[in-house]
Amino acid sequence: MSGRFIVFEGGDGVGKSTQVRLLAQALADRGDVLVTAEPGGTELGERLRKLLLDPATGDISARTEALLYAADKAQHVAQVIRPALERGQWVICDRYVDSMLAYQGAGRTLDAAELKKLADWATGGLVPDLTVLLDLDPSVGVGAKRELDRLEAAGEEFHQRVRDGFLALAAAAPERYLVLPARASVEQIATAVLRRVT
Ligand SMILES: Nc1ncnc2c1ncn2[C@@H]1O[C@H](COP(=O)(O)OP(=O)(O)OP(=O)(O)O)[C@@H](O)[C@H]1O
Ligand SMILES: [Mg+2]
Repeated sequence: MSGRFIVFEGGDGVGKSTQVRLLAQALADRGDVLVTAEPGGTELGERLRKLLLDPATGDISARTEALLYAADKAQHVAQVIRPALERGQWVICDRYVDSMLAYQGAGRTLDAAELKKLADWATGGLVPDLTVLLDLDPSVGVGAKRELDRLEAAGEEFHQRVRDGFLALAAAAPERYLVLPARASVEQIATAVLRRVT
Protein backbone atom coordinates (compact mmCIF):
# COMPACT_ATOMS: atom_id res chain seq x y z
CA MET A 1 0.00 0.00 0.00
CA SER A 2 1.61 3.25 -1.06
CA GLY A 3 -1.32 5.66 -0.79
CA ARG A 4 -2.10 7.55 2.39
CA PHE A 5 -5.36 7.38 4.31
CA ILE A 6 -6.53 10.59 5.98
CA VAL A 7 -9.74 10.82 7.99
CA PHE A 8 -11.69 13.80 9.33
CA GLU A 9 -13.66 13.17 12.50
CA GLY A 10 -15.74 15.16 14.95
CA GLY A 11 -19.31 15.85 15.92
CA ASP A 12 -22.13 17.09 13.75
CA GLY A 13 -21.65 20.41 12.01
CA VAL A 14 -18.03 20.92 13.17
CA GLY A 15 -16.71 21.58 9.65
CA LYS A 16 -15.51 18.15 8.50
CA SER A 17 -16.87 18.35 4.96
CA THR A 18 -15.49 21.87 4.54
CA GLN A 19 -12.00 20.74 5.48
CA VAL A 20 -12.19 17.52 3.44
CA ARG A 21 -12.89 19.63 0.37
CA LEU A 22 -10.07 22.09 1.10
CA LEU A 23 -7.50 19.37 1.73
CA ALA A 24 -8.51 17.57 -1.45
CA GLN A 25 -8.02 20.80 -3.41
CA ALA A 26 -4.67 21.46 -1.76
CA LEU A 27 -3.39 17.96 -2.53
CA ALA A 28 -4.80 17.75 -6.05
CA ASP A 29 -1.61 18.84 -7.80
CA ARG A 30 0.60 16.64 -5.62
CA GLY A 31 -1.08 13.34 -6.25
CA ASP A 32 -4.13 11.34 -7.08
CA VAL A 33 -6.79 12.04 -4.42
CA LEU A 34 -9.99 10.14 -3.72
CA VAL A 35 -12.59 11.85 -1.53
CA THR A 36 -15.21 9.73 0.17
CA ALA A 37 -17.48 9.65 3.22
CA GLU A 38 -19.20 7.43 5.78
CA PRO A 39 -21.84 6.34 6.16
CA GLY A 40 -22.10 5.98 2.40
CA GLY A 41 -19.40 5.95 -0.23
CA THR A 42 -20.86 2.86 -1.92
CA GLU A 43 -24.28 2.05 -3.35
CA LEU A 44 -25.10 -0.21 -0.44
CA GLY A 45 -23.64 2.38 1.93
CA GLU A 46 -25.94 5.07 0.60
CA ARG A 47 -28.91 2.83 1.36
CA LEU A 48 -27.59 2.13 4.85
CA ARG A 49 -26.98 5.84 5.37
CA LYS A 50 -30.59 6.58 4.57
CA LEU A 51 -31.80 3.93 7.00
CA LEU A 52 -29.47 5.11 9.74
CA LEU A 53 -30.09 8.84 9.50
CA ASP A 54 -33.73 9.10 8.44
CA PRO A 55 -35.84 10.00 11.50
CA ALA A 56 -38.64 7.98 9.84
CA THR A 57 -36.62 4.81 10.54
CA GLY A 58 -37.64 5.19 14.17
CA ASP A 59 -36.05 3.24 17.01
CA ILE A 60 -33.08 1.04 16.17
CA SER A 61 -31.53 -0.93 19.02
CA ALA A 62 -27.99 0.22 19.82
CA ARG A 63 -26.52 -3.11 18.70
CA THR A 64 -28.45 -3.05 15.43
CA GLU A 65 -27.26 0.48 14.81
CA ALA A 66 -23.65 -0.57 15.43
CA LEU A 67 -23.98 -3.53 13.07
CA LEU A 68 -25.41 -1.36 10.30
CA TYR A 69 -22.52 1.10 10.67
CA ALA A 70 -20.09 -1.82 10.68
CA ALA A 71 -21.67 -3.20 7.50
CA ASP A 72 -21.31 0.20 5.85
CA LYS A 73 -17.61 0.29 6.76
CA ALA A 74 -16.95 -3.26 5.63
CA GLN A 75 -18.38 -2.51 2.19
CA HIS A 76 -16.65 0.86 1.94
CA VAL A 77 -13.22 -0.48 2.84
CA ALA A 78 -13.54 -3.52 0.57
CA GLN A 79 -15.01 -1.73 -2.43
CA VAL A 80 -13.51 1.76 -2.29
CA ILE A 81 -10.85 2.57 0.31
CA ARG A 82 -8.51 -0.42 0.13
CA PRO A 83 -8.48 -0.63 -3.69
CA ALA A 84 -7.71 3.09 -3.89
CA LEU A 85 -4.83 2.81 -1.42
CA GLU A 86 -3.50 -0.17 -3.35
CA ARG A 87 -3.57 1.92 -6.53
CA GLY A 88 -1.44 4.46 -4.67
CA GLN A 89 -4.17 7.09 -4.28
CA TRP A 90 -4.56 9.41 -1.32
CA VAL A 91 -7.87 8.68 0.36
CA ILE A 92 -9.57 11.47 2.30
CA CYS A 93 -12.57 10.19 4.21
CA ASP A 94 -15.29 12.17 5.99
CA ARG A 95 -15.84 10.04 9.17
CA TYR A 96 -14.55 6.50 9.76
CA VAL A 97 -14.22 4.01 12.63
CA ASP A 98 -13.83 6.65 15.35
CA SER A 99 -17.32 7.94 14.61
CA MET A 100 -18.71 4.49 15.36
CA LEU A 101 -16.65 4.22 18.55
CA ALA A 102 -17.74 7.70 19.65
CA TYR A 103 -21.44 7.57 18.66
CA GLN A 104 -22.31 3.92 19.28
CA GLY A 105 -19.71 3.43 22.06
CA ALA A 106 -19.57 6.63 24.10
CA GLY A 107 -22.94 7.92 22.84
CA ARG A 108 -25.09 4.79 23.00
CA THR A 109 -22.88 3.36 25.76
CA LEU A 110 -22.05 0.07 24.04
CA ASP A 111 -18.94 -1.69 25.36
CA ALA A 112 -15.89 0.05 23.86
CA ALA A 113 -13.69 -3.04 23.57
CA GLU A 114 -16.42 -5.11 21.91
CA LEU A 115 -17.18 -2.31 19.49
CA LYS A 116 -13.51 -1.90 18.65
CA LYS A 117 -13.33 -5.60 17.80
CA LEU A 118 -16.39 -5.30 15.57
CA ALA A 119 -14.90 -2.27 13.79
CA ASP A 120 -11.54 -3.98 13.30
CA TRP A 121 -13.28 -7.04 11.92
CA ALA A 122 -15.40 -4.97 9.54
CA THR A 123 -12.44 -2.97 8.20
CA GLY A 124 -9.91 -5.80 8.26
CA GLY A 125 -7.94 -3.66 10.70
CA LEU A 126 -7.36 -0.76 8.30
CA VAL A 127 -6.20 2.23 10.39
CA PRO A 128 -5.85 5.79 9.02
CA ASP A 129 -2.37 7.27 8.65
CA LEU A 130 -3.74 10.48 10.13
CA THR A 131 -7.02 11.44 11.76
CA VAL A 132 -7.91 15.12 12.01
CA LEU A 133 -10.31 15.60 14.91
CA LEU A 134 -12.26 18.85 14.81
CA ASP A 135 -13.34 19.52 18.37
CA LEU A 136 -16.35 21.64 19.20
CA ASP A 137 -18.93 22.06 21.94
CA PRO A 138 -21.97 20.22 20.51
CA SER A 139 -24.30 22.98 21.63
CA VAL A 140 -22.56 25.06 18.92
CA GLY A 141 -22.27 22.39 16.20
CA VAL A 142 -25.52 20.48 16.60
CA GLY A 143 -27.16 23.59 18.00
CA ALA A 144 -26.73 25.45 14.70
CA LYS A 145 -28.68 22.81 12.77
CA ARG A 146 -32.27 23.42 11.75
CA GLU A 147 -33.36 19.96 10.70
CA LEU A 148 -31.88 17.17 12.78
CA ASP A 149 -31.23 13.68 11.43
CA ARG A 150 -31.85 10.61 13.61
CA LEU A 151 -28.45 10.77 15.33
CA GLU A 152 -28.33 14.54 15.60
CA ALA A 153 -31.67 14.37 17.41
CA ALA A 154 -30.26 12.06 20.12
CA GLY A 155 -29.98 14.86 22.69
CA GLU A 156 -27.40 17.09 24.35
CA GLU A 157 -25.96 14.59 26.83
CA PHE A 158 -25.53 12.06 24.05
CA HIS A 159 -23.55 14.58 22.01
CA GLN A 160 -21.40 15.55 25.01
CA ARG A 161 -20.48 11.90 25.46
CA VAL A 162 -19.68 11.66 21.74
CA ARG A 163 -17.36 14.66 22.00
CA ASP A 164 -15.58 13.19 25.02
CA GLY A 165 -15.37 9.85 23.21
CA PHE A 166 -13.57 11.40 20.25
CA LEU A 167 -11.13 13.25 22.52
CA ALA A 168 -10.36 10.06 24.45
CA LEU A 169 -9.57 8.19 21.23
CA ALA A 170 -7.15 10.94 20.17
CA ALA A 171 -5.53 11.05 23.60
CA ALA A 172 -4.90 7.30 23.47
CA ALA A 173 -2.86 7.50 20.25
CA PRO A 174 -1.68 11.13 19.88
CA GLU A 175 0.86 10.29 17.14
CA ARG A 176 -1.97 9.37 14.75
CA TYR A 177 -4.13 12.45 15.45
CA LEU A 178 -4.24 16.15 14.84
CA VAL A 179 -6.79 17.69 17.21
CA LEU A 180 -7.90 21.20 16.32
CA PRO A 181 -10.46 23.59 17.81
CA ALA A 182 -13.21 23.61 15.18
CA ARG A 183 -14.06 27.29 15.46
CA ALA A 184 -10.65 28.53 14.51
CA SER A 185 -11.07 30.12 11.09
CA VAL A 186 -11.61 27.81 8.11
CA GLU A 187 -8.26 29.00 6.67
CA GLN A 188 -6.34 28.47 9.92
CA ILE A 189 -7.62 24.93 10.19
CA ALA A 190 -6.87 24.16 6.53
CA THR A 191 -3.32 25.50 6.93
CA ALA A 192 -2.67 23.45 10.06
CA VAL A 193 -3.99 20.30 8.38
CA LEU A 194 -1.91 20.80 5.23
CA ARG A 195 1.23 21.46 7.27
CA ARG A 196 0.77 18.21 9.15
CA VAL A 197 -0.10 16.20 6.03
CA THR A 198 2.84 17.41 3.98
N1 LIG B 1 -13.99 26.91 11.04
C1 LIG B 1 -15.28 27.25 10.96
N2 LIG B 1 -15.77 28.27 11.66
C2 LIG B 1 -17.08 28.62 11.58
N3 LIG B 1 -17.98 28.00 10.79
C3 LIG B 1 -17.56 26.95 10.06
C4 LIG B 1 -16.19 26.52 10.10
N4 LIG B 1 -16.05 25.45 9.26
C5 LIG B 1 -17.28 25.22 8.74
N5 LIG B 1 -18.17 26.12 9.21
C6 LIG B 1 -19.61 26.18 8.90
O1 LIG B 1 -20.26 25.22 9.73
C7 LIG B 1 -21.30 24.57 9.00
C8 LIG B 1 -21.03 23.06 8.96
O2 LIG B 1 -19.86 22.82 8.17
P1 LIG B 1 -19.64 21.41 7.46
O3 LIG B 1 -20.81 21.02 6.67
O4 LIG B 1 -18.30 21.46 6.80
O5 LIG B 1 -19.55 20.50 8.77
P2 LIG B 1 -19.70 18.93 8.90
O6 LIG B 1 -18.89 18.57 10.09
O7 LIG B 1 -19.38 18.28 7.61
O8 LIG B 1 -21.24 18.80 9.22
P3 LIG B 1 -22.18 17.49 9.13
O9 LIG B 1 -21.99 16.81 10.44
O10 LIG B 1 -23.54 18.07 8.96
O11 LIG B 1 -21.72 16.69 7.96
C9 LIG B 1 -21.32 25.19 7.62
O12 LIG B 1 -22.28 26.20 7.63
C10 LIG B 1 -19.93 25.78 7.48
O13 LIG B 1 -19.89 26.87 6.59
MG1 LIG C 1 -20.48 16.90 6.49
